[in-house]
Amino acid sequence: MAHDAAARWNGRYTKDGSHWQNRRPRQLLVEFAHLLPESGLALDAAAGVALHGLFLAERGLHVIALDISEVGLRLARESAIKRGVWLETAVCDLAHPWLPANYFDVIVNFRFLERATFPMYRQALKQGGLLFFETFVKIDPQKEYPEHYLDPGELQTAFADFDIIHYGRAEILDDQSRPIKASEQLVARKR
Ligand SMILES: C[S@@+](CC[C@H](N)C(=O)[O-])C[C@H]1O[C@@H](n2cnc3c(N)ncnc32)[C@H](O)[C@@H]1O
Repeated sequence: MAHDAAARWNGRYTKDGSHWQNRRPRQLLVEFAHLLPESGLALDAAAGVALHGLFLAERGLHVIALDISEVGLRLARESAIKRGVWLETAVCDLAHPWLPANYFDVIVNFRFLERATFPMYRQALKQGGLLFFETFVKIDPQKEYPEHYLDPGELQTAFADFDIIHYGRAEILDDQSRPIKASEQLVARKR
């Protein structure tokens, strides 16, 4: 049976793979990289071509990248070989997630929203583990599909039982300084 998101994202990565591979990791991860442990197990969730997983692997973490798109993950493995780092990948549908409890030292979720992952991330992180989460937030609720966009403040509420290290917002503005796209950012540690 075909999966719509897999077909859509496989198509994008087949057409524009190098565009995705050449993007930079989100500034949030770079800015808070000093919090990362020097070793341990990290999950790059909805990794795509694993920009963020590769960043973590280059800092000594053992990384598992999960995504619905096997094409994105193949590009991720190619980049890992080129950069001489180790990255494990698995195709998986994060709309129906399950992961073992107390397993990961770090979880990163960038530009992807699947609310079913919230309790799973909470459970799958070890005590003291770090969560980096950034994805798009609603600007115009009339136009945006609620399943793909956060409500303002939603991440902070969802992970209120964590120690919140950073909660922020990043915006792309038009030429009249009005936001055309915005994301919310969370860096938090499991208690
Ligand atoms: C905007 S891309 C972000 C990729 C990467 N996190 C980044 O920031 O570059 C969204 C990713 O979510 C993946 N995706 C979409 N639906 C998914 C699902 N149900 N389960 C797992 N991955 C999914 C897509 O294949 C795609 O790689």
